[in-house]
Amino acid sequence: MKDGKFLTMAIESSCDETSVAVLADGRQVLSNIISSQIDVHTAFGGVVPEIASRHHLQNMNTVIDQSLEAAGVTLDDIDLLGVTYGPGLVGALLMGVATAKGISFAKDIPLVGVNHMHGHISANFIEYPELEPPFMSLIVSGGHTNIVHMKDYGECEVLGGTRDDAVGEAYDKVARVIGLGYPGGPKIDKIAKEGDPEAIPFKRVYLEKGSMDFSFSGLKTAVLNYLNTERQAGREINVPDVAASFQAAVIEVIVQKAVDAAVQHKQDKLVLAGGVAANSKLRGDLEKACAAKGIQLYVPSPVLCTDNAAMIGCAAYYQYQKKGADQLDLDAFPNLAI
Ligand code: KG4
Ligand code: ZN
Repeated sequence: MKDGKFLTMAIESSCDETSVAVLADGRQVLSNIISSQIDVHTAFGGVVPEIASRHHLQNMNTVIDQSLEAAGVTLDDIDLLGVTYGPGLVGALLMGVATAKGISFAKDIPLVGVNHMHGHISANFIEYPELEPPFMSLIVSGGHTNIVHMKDYGECEVLGGTRDDAVGEAYDKVARVIGLGYPGGPKIDKIAKEGDPEAIPFKRVYLEKGSMDFSFSGLKTAVLNYLNTERQAGREINVPDVAASFQAAVIEVIVQKAVDAAVQHKQDKLVLAGGVAANSKLRGDLEKACAAKGIQLYVPSPVLCTDNAAMIGCAAYYQYQKKGADQLDLDAFPNLAI
């Protein structure tokens, strides 16, 4: 406690960002330090799990020190520790979990293991201090694409998910084949602004009527086939047009399904979460679609969309209030479900 406020320190290391945050009373961010490894992995065209783990190990203590210092507190002030324990890369997750357990044991601070996806949703509690469940949520990240009915803090029903690639994964793979490199999402977002979204009529994949599931691998193949056909015919590829047309096919489907889910479940709040939530077209199109149905859209600012520890700290705070602390046998679960 400091100045009468309950302090949570959180650690996020599920993929290629080492992040540590300190929050007051669950929603007020005192510090949120993010050490990105993007430059390290760019040379390999994607995240190399073993290298990610090593960098977490190298960076962790520094990031913790920086976060405490930026918040103006010490470990003695911390009331609760939160750590991402899944889903993610197992070696990367273990770095955070082992660190958090060590601090919990040494300083006798209660520890809570947080589901990374609950963290992404909780980014919205930080952005919007008045936001309370229930609401409908669309989670779009490099590893997940889900429509989730959040009924209460930490209590949710998954209505749909991807049957193959996640949205961010599709962006990254398509970016690679059209020569934009890693990380693909932001690059497609940017270059698509110069392209014609109707240039190539890629199929919109809605699956069975009423399904809240997604499938993006067919679209990825369709982009590849288009590129091969054009190259074989000796025609030049218009990269902005391909990017814009691919993006239009993805976003039309996710916007439609998310809004349908909110309407069907009589929710007047739709909460966007995950790294792809930073996408400008997705934000704009969802805004319009929600306005047409009288739904209030909640979108975190870009720094809270990508992986960060503040969102984990917020989720940890509510989880601790509802379910109490975890034990020191907390483990990492790479395939943890939402
Ligand atoms: O949530 P996140 O940081 O990591 C996971 O938990 O997966 O999401 C990363 C994903 C990557 O696939 C990245 O390409 C994508 O989010 N992404 C974007 C944008 N910014 C990041 N995709 C589309 N448009 C963007 N502006
Ligand atoms: Zn994430």
